[in-house]
Amino acid sequence: MATKKNIPVVEWEYAPSLEGTSHIQLKKQYDLFIDGKWVKPSSGKYFQTINPANEEVLSEVAYGNEKDVDLAVKAARKAYTEVWSVMPAAERAKYIYRIARLMQERARELAVIETLDAGKTIRESRDIDVPLACNHFFYYAGWADKLEYAFPNRKVESIGVAGQIIPWNFPLLMAAWKIAPALAAGNTVVLKPAETTPLTALKLAEIIEASGLPAGVVNIVTGFGDTGAAIVNHTDVDKIAFTGSTNVGKMIQKAVAGTGKKLTLELGGKSANIIFDDAPIDQAVEGIINGIFFNQGHVCCAGSRLFVQENVADKVIAKLKDRLNSLYLGNPLDKNTDIGAINSKEQLETINKYIKIGKQEGAEMYQPSCSIPKKGFYCPPTLFTNVAQSNVIAQEEIFGPVLTIQTFRTVDEVIQKANNTPFGLAAGVWTDKGSRIFNLTTKLRAGVIWANTYNKFDPTSPFGGYKESGFGREGGLHGLSSYVKLV
Ligand code: NAI
Ligand code: MG
Repeated sequence: MATKKNIPVVEWEYAPSLEGTSHIQLKKQYDLFIDGKWVKPSSGKYFQTINPANEEVLSEVAYGNEKDVDLAVKAARKAYTEVWSVMPAAERAKYIYRIARLMQERARELAVIETLDAGKTIRESRDIDVPLACNHFFYYAGWADKLEYAFPNRKVESIGVAGQIIPWNFPLLMAAWKIAPALAAGNTVVLKPAETTPLTALKLAEIIEASGLPAGVVNIVTGFGDTGAAIVNHTDVDKIAFTGSTNVGKMIQKAVAGTGKKLTLELGGKSANIIFDDAPIDQAVEGIINGIFFNQGHVCCAGSRLFVQENVADKVIAKLKDRLNSLYLGNPLDKNTDIGAINSKEQLETINKYIKIGKQEGAEMYQPSCSIPKKGFYCPPTLFTNVAQSNVIAQEEIFGPVLTIQTFRTVDEVIQKANNTPFGLAAGVWTDKGSRIFNLTTKLRAGVIWANTYNKFDPTSPFGGYKESGFGREGGLHGLSSYVKLV
């Protein structure tokens, strides 16, 4: 052990602590899950899904088209009218509980597959994605036979067939957010996972199959944007729930206009994390790290814009830089890893494009010196200081580990700056004063506001945005209300 000014300096790196993969079962090829059966795509086409951490092919997945979507919608309609909507609610609840328990039993396998397919760290998939996904099923199972208490003095009816399209940043969790409330309210489902992360939804289909859920109640159709569009445009779908980019969300809104389909959209964000000078600075620094570097910044509510009160800015930025230097980037299956792989080559290119724009705009960039694996898609955690409110990097969603830092002096100034974006998904406020928290929570135009914490989720609390971040809520009672008709 070397010493530096008599202080011992540890020269070794952490040994890898890799989660095993021998306990997981992945097929070479996956078909579509329609009407309780695994069916070949009518086009005969399959596409590969890779591990973005090393670019190795994990499996081949069916490319569903309009015909396949039509089969899935027909199966969902039949299951809705003949079985699911007429089944006593307490019986429906039993199936949903059973799915939740089966997911828990296979939690380790689900977490490893999520990490392999998405590039997110095993720490997150194991501690956040999978337990939260299970809890969403448990939570909504509890509501299934209590709908008249959820909406007192109203007659509650199901909607019918729900078409659900989900993104790649929380693949299993987004499937749970969408499927669990839909089933609890008596609807049937056609769900399309994202093209880069279809595997945990297919594993969920296996779990659903094992649960004995009646055929056609949940159908999983894998594919690309055109597969999603076929769901959106199908005339016998009653409700569309979409999470993804704002552009696609706008297209979907146009497509369903005038059709009578119900719609909820959960889109992008550019959320503000606001640090006042009386905040517990060390906790706030951890909150900033968790807010933006968690899941490589692939979080719609990521705290991607930091506002620090001017008199503590130097201190906060110095501590942030120190902390960035201790983050460990690399193999997502390593339990020591803080920052895993970017989900796809395309997303890495998007992030790098924004980093380039940031530098061209004159902002000052800071990245810690860390080694980047040779294979796979990685981006070091990146800070930008000297950022103007009008800079592209302070206005547009980057969806990567990139944080812009601006300063402020007064409460009014920071409220104005924080609200000055087309988005309104989330915000974080760090201060010792409760009154200040309440003042900001009423004035910030964001769907979720965390106080002295960030990125905390719970099935009982609603999540969703203002403005271009979308409309409708997921989670909690609000999430249930998107799947019922109140008469
Ligand atoms: P995307 O919006 O294209 O993909 C999301 C889902 O929509 C995928 O399942 C995709 O196959 C499907 N889809 C694509 N085009 C469709 C269409 N015309 N009709 C119906 N479904 C369609 O997102 P993408 O391209 O993967 O990411 C681009 C950007 O979107 C990211 O850089 C990020 O800024 C944002 N994004 C936001 C997310 C959020 O949670 N709000 C999640 C993922 C991406
Ligand atoms: Mg993949």
